[in-house]
Amino acid sequence: MAFRVAIIGTGHVAHLHANAYRASGKAEIVAIVDINDEIRAAFQKEYGIPNTYRDYRTMLDSEGPDVVSVCVWPHLHPEITVTAAGTHSVKGIICEKPLALTLPAMNEMITTCRQRGIALGVGHQLRHQARVRAVRELISSGAFGAVRRVWAVCGSGDLMSNTIHTIDLVHFFCDDRQVKRVLAQVDPGDGAYRFGHPVERTSVAYALIPEEGGIPDVRICVESANCWSQGYHYITIECVDGTIEINRPGSPPVVAKGWRSTGEELKEMGEEPDPSTLAVRDLLDAVEHHREPVSNGITGYKAVEFILAMYQSALKRSIVELPLSVDTPDPLRHFFHWDGVIRGGRGTAFSTTGAVTTTGKIS
Ligand SMILES: NC(=O)c1ccc[n+]([C@@H]2O[C@H](COP(=O)([O-])OP(=O)(O)OC[C@H]3O[C@@H](n4cnc5c(N)ncnc54)[C@H](O)[C@@H]3O)[C@@H](O)[C@H]2O)c1
Repeated sequence: MAFRVAIIGTGHVAHLHANAYRASGKAEIVAIVDINDEIRAAFQKEYGIPNTYRDYRTMLDSEGPDVVSVCVWPHLHPEITVTAAGTHSVKGIICEKPLALTLPAMNEMITTCRQRGIALGVGHQLRHQARVRAVRELISSGAFGAVRRVWAVCGSGDLMSNTIHTIDLVHFFCDDRQVKRVLAQVDPGDGAYRFGHPVERTSVAYALIPEEGGIPDVRICVESANCWSQGYHYITIECVDGTIEINRPGSPPVVAKGWRSTGEELKEMGEEPDPSTLAVRDLLDAVEHHREPVSNGITGYKAVEFILAMYQSALKRSIVELPLSVDTPDPLRHFFHWDGVIRGGRGTAFSTTGAVTTTGKIS
C-alpha cells in the first residue's frame, strides 16, 4: 500500500522528510503546504509534487492524506498536529522536534492522537542511526552491566534545537526510564531567538534516575553548547563492567572498553543508512501494525520536559523534581521573561530559509 503523504512547511527539514518518504518505497507525497510561495514552488519543482497549498486546513480537507509531516517552527506544532489528528483520513503524523514548547500543548497532542488511534512520531531520527542502535544493543546485551553514569555533550546549538537530540539519546540509552531530578544552570545569553523563541547561550545539567526495582540509579550530566568540552552528541556511558563511548571527536563512532580486559571493541559501522529514512519507515510500519513508533509522543515529551526542568531549576536555583506538574508556570517564558511573541532578531540567522516567515504568539 502506498501511503498518501502531505508535508506542512517546506523549509530546511522538510527535505529530509521528502527524501525519506521517497526512499521508503511505501509512500507518495501528494501535497505540500507553505505560506511562503517561493519556497513552496521550489520544493514542488524539486520533488514533482502534484498539489500545493498555502493553508494547511484547506489541504487536509481537500487531500485527505494518510500521513502528515509537521515541519514548521515549534510554536505551530500543537495547533497543526491536533488539527491533522482531527482529520478523518489521517493515520500517522511525524511532528518535528521539539514536540512543543509547553507541557499542556504536548499533553493535548499526545492525548488527541491516542484517542483517534493515530501513530505520533517525533523527529528524533537519531534513535535510528546505526551507531546509536549499536550502543543500545551493547547496553541491552548486558555485556557491560548496568548503566551507572552518562556524560553527554552537545557542543553546538541550543537546548530546544540541538541538545534536545542529545537528551533524547541519553533517555534512549537509559531505556527511557523517568529522570526524577534535575539541577541545572543556564546562561541566558544576549537575547538570541531561534525558530521564533528565545534561546540560551550555554547550560549544564546534572540529573538523576533513581534506583528502581533492583535496577541501579543513573547519574547524568548534560553539557550544552559552548561549554568547554568538544563534541556533538558525544556521550560516554559508564557501566558496572566497562564504558561505551559514542561520537568521541577523532575516534571511531563507537568505542567500548571492558574493565576486566585491556581490549577495546570498535564497532565497525560501514555505510550508515540515513536515519530519517529509517524513522519514516518505522512510522509507516507503526501505522500498519498499530503500535507506537520508536520515537513517539512520550519520548518526545520527556526530552522537552528535561529542558523545561533545566530552565525551572536555573530559575529557582534549586533541584527540580520530575515529572513536572502540567500546571508548572511555563518555565521557558519565565526564565527568559519572554512575552510569548514569536520573533526573528538574531534568530533569523539560524533559520535556514532566511527571513522570518512566521509570526504569532504562543498561548
Ligand atoms: N530533526 C532534525 O534533525 C531537524 C533539523 C532541522 C530542523 N528541525 C525542526 O524542524 C522544524 C522546522 O525547522 P526548519 O529548519 O525546517 O525551519 P525553516 O524556517 O527552514 O522552515 C519552516 C517552513 O515553515 C513554513 N511555514 C511557516 N508557517 C507556516 C504555516 N502556518 N503553514 C505552512 N507553512 C508554514 C515557512 O514558510 C518555512 O518555509 C523546527 O521545529 C526545527 O527544530 C529538525
